[in-house]
Amino acid sequence: MTGEPRRSGAWLERRDLDGFLHRSWLKSEGFSDESFRGKPVIGICNSWSELVNCNVHLRAVAESVKRGVLQAGGFPLEFGVMSLGETLMKPTTMLYRNLMAMDVEETIRANPLDGVVLLTGCDKTNPASIMGAASADIPTIVVTGGPMLNGHWRGRELGSCSDCWHFHEELRAGRISERDWRELEGSISRSHGHCMTMGTASTMACVTEALGLALPGTAAIPAADSRHKAFAERAGRAIVDLVEQEVKLSDILTREAFENAIRVLHAISGSTNAILHLTAYAGRLGVDLPLQLFDELCSTTPWLVNLKPAGAHLMEDFYYAGGLPAVMAQIEDLLHLDAPTVSGATVGENLAGAELIDEDVIRPRGRPLDEGGSLVVLRGSLCPDGAVMKISAAEDRLLSHEGRAVVFEDNDDLAARIDDPDLDVDADSVLVLRHGGPVGAPGMPEWGHLPIPAKLLRAGVTDMLRISDARMSGTSYGAVVLHVAPEAAVGGPLALVQTGDRVRLDVDGRRLDLVVDESELARRRAAWSPRERPDERGYRRLYAERVLQANEGCDFDFLRGGSPVVRESKTYL
Ligand code: FES
Repeated sequence: MTGEPRRSGAWLERRDLDGFLHRSWLKSEGFSDESFRGKPVIGICNSWSELVNCNVHLRAVAESVKRGVLQAGGFPLEFGVMSLGETLMKPTTMLYRNLMAMDVEETIRANPLDGVVLLTGCDKTNPASIMGAASADIPTIVVTGGPMLNGHWRGRELGSCSDCWHFHEELRAGRISERDWRELEGSISRSHGHCMTMGTASTMACVTEALGLALPGTAAIPAADSRHKAFAERAGRAIVDLVEQEVKLSDILTREAFENAIRVLHAISGSTNAILHLTAYAGRLGVDLPLQLFDELCSTTPWLVNLKPAGAHLMEDFYYAGGLPAVMAQIEDLLHLDAPTVSGATVGENLAGAELIDEDVIRPRGRPLDEGGSLVVLRGSLCPDGAVMKISAAEDRLLSHEGRAVVFEDNDDLAARIDDPDLDVDADSVLVLRHGGPVGAPGMPEWGHLPIPAKLLRAGVTDMLRISDARMSGTSYGAVVLHVAPEAAVGGPLALVQTGDRVRLDVDGRRLDLVVDESELARRRAAWSPRERPDERGYRRLYAERVLQANEGCDFDFLRGGSPVVRESKTYL
């Protein structure tokens, strides 16, 4: 501990006119001197929004956090930030992740906060909040919003949104009716909380806990479970402790914490999106986290968690089976057990007493779903800066495959032609989509799960090799290669592929290659020019000009690294 005065003191303990104004305006909210004098000020950074169904319960969660802060002698102040909802927000929340991160960072920096609790839920609200807080770097705890209850339809459990994709294919293949489809709509989402498969939101909740940024045992608690609010209250008490101990976010997010999170990502067979977000956090904190590390740790980390989309169960089952502590206890020998966490204890201390209750949902170490993890990083002539693939969600026969490329210029072209009965495609073809990357789309939407052509679906084809510079929803599945870098829009090799070219995937060798002569590629490269971009203004222009490629986390180049928070309030009157 440095013994330095608290940051909020620079606003609230001043004897001058500024101090008068700061205190007086707080009093206008009805706070007495006793509410805040000499107390740590705790911001509750709330991504609540009625536009974001997954986060709609967070106002109530904030009340629980406040209760905890008050119990521990702090002064809680809740504030709203931009929120990002996967389903309603267009063209894609990923376009706005960095904007929300800027909102979080600057709101923390500009205000008299000694610590902050981040309330997150839907996919991008979690990484955006953590990226912003990482750059501001004050004591921070994350309360993840919890998954929805399991969906139910006609006696079977439904997962959002893996079963949306599954039943949409059933509808396109004519195996369910329009009436069934409408019934499913009301059956799959039946409580507040985020998607309850091991999609991106659940993955990021687990990764947050593995990083040590959330209290142990919290990632899987369903949003509707009363224990979720009790944990939020505990987080309120814990953040006051962290402020007293002067534990900043950068003290928790060390290289060891990142390695723990990557191990957990593989053990849970989590979303490929986590690779982008963890890379972006590391960039903010100056931690070296090359894409290759994800692959290196994959081969020695067993896949243990049997959740959709790669497995069979859902987050509610995961919680009852023991949740993340049970998983981490199984791979204890692979973790940095002395890494600190926001609970005040180390990772190892947090895991004491962790119990594995259901061995079908969480496999014991000796009986994994696979010995070697689930996310691989590919290199090769089609992706010199890398691409990723979730092999646990793919049919085995496609993990070593060579086929004829069928190329789609962009998502509109895909939508227009994929179900054309005359499309020259068969089950061995390789579907290639370009202009789905951070610059090309823009915002790298979740277009990477290219639909299987309807005529092949009707013929019984259930998986095909698909390649793009886009992302894929964490709830999707299939032999899908994503995040190809550099992307087509900036002249990556994906821009040069033509229908009829041979493409070769070799997962064991971690290769993805375009089987075309270098002289022919050189000819195509010389003839290539970037697409005309619409004349954009404001944030979208900034995004297109400054976003980094997928292998660097799609952050803005000027946001890498942190900026020290102000310790003195300066007024420019
Ligand atoms: Fe919010 Fe799936 S829509 S987590």
